[in-house]
Amino acid sequence: MRKKVIMITGAAGEIGNALINSLAEQGALPLLSLDLQPLPEREARMTTHLQGDILDQALLSRLVSEYEIDTIYHLAALLSTRAEFTPEAAHRVNVEGTLVLLKLASEQSEWRGTPVRFIFPSSIAAYGLPDLETKRVYARVREWEWNYPRTMYGCNKLYCEQLGIYFSRHYRQLAADRPVMLDFRCLRFPGLVSAFTLPSGGTSDYGPEMLHAAAKGVPYSCFVREDVQIPFMSMPDAVTALLRLTEAPRQVLSRLVYNVTSFSLSASEFRQWVLKYFPDAQITFDPDVKRQGIVDSWPADLDDSPARRDWGWQPEYDLERSFGEYLVPNITNRYRKLKVES
Ligand SMILES: NC(=O)c1ccc[n+]([C@@H]2O[C@H](COP(=O)([O-])OP(=O)(O)OC[C@H]3O[C@@H](n4cnc5c(N)ncnc54)[C@H](O)[C@@H]3O)[C@@H](O)[C@H]2O)c1
Repeated sequence: MRKKVIMITGAAGEIGNALINSLAEQGALPLLSLDLQPLPEREARMTTHLQGDILDQALLSRLVSEYEIDTIYHLAALLSTRAEFTPEAAHRVNVEGTLVLLKLASEQSEWRGTPVRFIFPSSIAAYGLPDLETKRVYARVREWEWNYPRTMYGCNKLYCEQLGIYFSRHYRQLAADRPVMLDFRCLRFPGLVSAFTLPSGGTSDYGPEMLHAAAKGVPYSCFVREDVQIPFMSMPDAVTALLRLTEAPRQVLSRLVYNVTSFSLSASEFRQWVLKYFPDAQITFDPDVKRQGIVDSWPADLDDSPARRDWGWQPEYDLERSFGEYLVPNITNRYRKLKVES
């Protein structure tokens, strides 16, 4: 008999790490994880981890012969900055990788006669505002507005959202025997800030990078202008959002793609918050024109009222709690421990 599991791709990344901890604590089903990278020792004890590529067909075929996949959190991706340097590789991982997993989830849904839940994290990169004046006027964008991404990563995310909806509603629509459809659900996240992992390859990374540098006591030069504003969310809220959306009864979902957010602030306000807790922090601004252009095209804030209305989304960590209760104490502790160990 195949073993029923929750599968997490990209499990060794920032969100994956946090999600494994929460899912293991819930203990609903055993976890099966897949990533090019190994997991840290602690998380490796919580899951059966396969070190491999989501594009490795042989690996995936072996996996479906051994496991019944109840839910997939498909997190594996190349993030925005990295994707801009290697757009074709990003397309392969972000689009072809997602297609392969949607296909796998479809086949599993059909085989077991029950939809596999397919949870997909999208991003504010799916939006693209043409200029700063539009960004000012359309401050809180809704899901269907300004879907004109200007990065490979954003294009990949927007298209994969559509692919997920297709597999959920129309896959094999002309076949005589319509299969059991998978159950696709997607969140558009703002920039995420984690106390425990350092971001890499994202274009919203300047926020968390400021904070980690301050806690380490090293100077930081911010790659965007002081006035640029985008939305952010602390990692515990990102995980909560993923879990709440997974648990929501299908009939309450009026959409398959939802914005979620917590607080929105400019780079200079982010710096002020860091200085409040680390008054000696040395944070300067030296904008990189190209990365700046990408952040300028992202919305200043997200309208997440459909998520709030449909499945009761509510961030637990607003700006004050994020810094005061989650980020600063945990980051300070992290670097204090690392200092002691070295
Ligand atoms: N962190 C954010 O601010 C943010 C915001 C919005 C959306 N997201 C999305 O959430 C997901 C997870 O983000 P994250 O911050 O944890 O990213 P991350 O870069 O920390 O983790 C991604 C993981 O995917 C793995 N991976 C990449 N290619 C792979 C492949 N071919 N096969 C197997 N594994 C592969 C990497 O090794 C890495 O561990 C991504 O889809 C990302 O686009 C993140």
